[in-house]
Amino acid sequence: MPGLAVNVDHIATLREARKIDIPDPVIAAAIVELAGADGVVVHLREDRRHIQDRDVRLLRETVKTKLILEMAATSAMVATAVEIKPDVVTLVPEKREELTTEGGLDLHLHKDAVSDAVQVLQKAEIPVSIFVDPDLDHIKLAHRTNANFVEIHTGTFCDAVTQKERSECFEKIVNSAKLAHKLKLGVNAGHGLGYQTVKAFKGLSEIDEFSIGHSIIARAVLVGLDRAVREMIALIKEL
Ligand code: PXP
Repeated sequence: MPGLAVNVDHIATLREARKIDIPDPVIAAAIVELAGADGVVVHLREDRRHIQDRDVRLLRETVKTKLILEMAATSAMVATAVEIKPDVVTLVPEKREELTTEGGLDLHLHKDAVSDAVQVLQKAEIPVSIFVDPDLDHIKLAHRTNANFVEIHTGTFCDAVTQKERSECFEKIVNSAKLAHKLKLGVNAGHGLGYQTVKAFKGLSEIDEFSIGHSIIARAVLVGLDRAVREMIALIKEL
């Protein structure tokens, strides 16, 4: 059975909307672990728009399963990771203007920077995953960087509108997962996955772990809203 790592960035997004201290992604991470997740993911962005340095430092102390740090392959971020020592680093492309990560790392363009980052992180005993598009060339290039895992970008598949587009995207994911597995890379998959789209992966045994954030946090807000309103009504009734 594949594992599930839950991304709690959007708990921090909600906190940063008010610049106060709730909701706390550190507390969310503990709940995620108690519910059975295999890991907690946070993306420490250059602009610190959601997750803050304080969150990553505290999560390093509190996460009992596996702390996965998503980050750009810059020297500043590599230095931060070496200091914090997450259980895994996932290298992702990062653009300030994007709403969320828009695709896999272009290893044709950034192979040297990524290979250097992989080397420094592994020297600090941090296994490295590379977020790549479902493309055989990129899987081969990721393998050549000596990374431990790839995370296959599932966003294009999840966003596909027609059945034809969806099947073509899924075939690319299957072929990429099989090649990565054959090359003895660990195989993760994520981005955009939801409660319907994840069902397509039944039987794709090459995938070791899914990385899912937005759909789980979005569902949590809705399934938790009833209780949150009732608790406030109970308090108001006592006024
Ligand atoms: N994997 C990577 C590399 C990501 O950048 C993200 C988003 O932060 C995810 C997985 C999770 O995507 P989503 O929030 O759409 O589930």
